[in-house]
Amino acid sequence: MTGVATRIPMARATRLAIIGFGNVGKALARLLLSKRDELNARGVQFVVTGIFTARHGHVIARRGLNLEEALAVDNLWELKPRRPAIGGLEFIRTCPADIAVEVSTLNPFNGEPALGYITEALSRSISVVTANKGPIAFAYPRLMALAREHSAHILFESTVMDGCPIFSLVRETLPCTRILGFRAILNSTSNLIIQKVEEGSSLKQAIAYSQEIGIAETNPSYDLDGYDAQIKTSILVQVIMGECLPPSKVARNGMGHLTEKVIRKAVQQGKHYHLIATAFRNGKDIEASVDVQLLSKDDRLAFVTGTSNGIFIETDTLRSIFLSEENPGPAQTAYGVLADCVHVAEALRKPARKRIS
Ligand SMILES: NC(=O)c1ccc[n+]([C@@H]2O[C@H](COP(=O)([O-])OP(=O)(O)OC[C@H]3O[C@@H](n4cnc5c(N)ncnc54)[C@H](OP(=O)(O)O)[C@@H]3O)[C@@H](O)[C@H]2O)c1
Repeated sequence: MTGVATRIPMARATRLAIIGFGNVGKALARLLLSKRDELNARGVQFVVTGIFTARHGHVIARRGLNLEEALAVDNLWELKPRRPAIGGLEFIRTCPADIAVEVSTLNPFNGEPALGYITEALSRSISVVTANKGPIAFAYPRLMALAREHSAHILFESTVMDGCPIFSLVRETLPCTRILGFRAILNSTSNLIIQKVEEGSSLKQAIAYSQEIGIAETNPSYDLDGYDAQIKTSILVQVIMGECLPPSKVARNGMGHLTEKVIRKAVQQGKHYHLIATAFRNGKDIEASVDVQLLSKDDRLAFVTGTSNGIFIETDTLRSIFLSEENPGPAQTAYGVLADCVHVAEALRKPARKRIS
């Protein structure tokens, strides 16, 4: 098999620079290989011109690199031609790209350094696709304005609900609808860990398992202490409800106080703990929180198990919409990234540059 780049004339291809090559970055590379025929049939071709990591080197290949080779090595330094070490900002300045795909580690406190990477890309009229929640939560209005100013696009479907199309659903299919609020399970890791403990694992074993399958944040306390869900709640409020709400304004209570005994006792009573995110309009204000709640069987969110997520979106037109994704992992998150890349590539080709973000 040949790499993605080999048969694609550069003039027709959309160039991707990938920042972060962990679970999601690698899953994206596999999808770019396995979905090549479907992409071609849609008239979209991608070449990856560079990949940047923190500790595993980087590679830049102006005519496109061989993704199979990149997936096969432990360290990108092993790929020719060897290059001197550079920082992430320099990578963005050097690597020729139409889209910067930002899938580096979450910083739940200010979104850096990913926010700086995205700002640099947009300032250079390079569109951005990201699964990284930090930059969107902390700088959504600023990044949108920057994208508009530089005729670039920014999409971030996989920042919330692991690739399940929540933002495109609201953007593309609900015209003239006001989102009144939502109630959701947004953090797969805590959901899975509670279920594993219910089934007999210790908390320690359950955390290790969620890391093993690649769904936990690099630092799992970001999941368990509710930061991940807090940030996702802030993003949803800003994007689908159109209201400014920084993560710090989302009240947060993680699952730190839950012991194995407490979790299993609830099951004996026919109930289950879940980390629930809610946001509702209260007059001109938004009330938003992330909290561990004990759900009984008459609550549909109680059936969202494993790594699944689920959301009730309250609207002023269709009343309540329920959206759920069954047991997503890095491959589904990567699919959300790929779908965003397709939408951006198609928008970039349109002469009038239809705005999609
Ligand atoms: N995993 C999921 O299912 C999932 C779901 C939704 C959203 N996300 C989001 O997707 C992003 C990636 O997740 P992941 O699971 O792929 O994480 P991961 O496996 O920990 O990989 C993170 C990648 O980012 C690189 N990196 C770390 N710090 C960096 C920096 N300062 N500059 C540039 N690159 C840096 C790492 O480099 P090294 O390889 O050298 O360490 C690694 O390649 C995160 O923002 C996460 O919140 C993940």
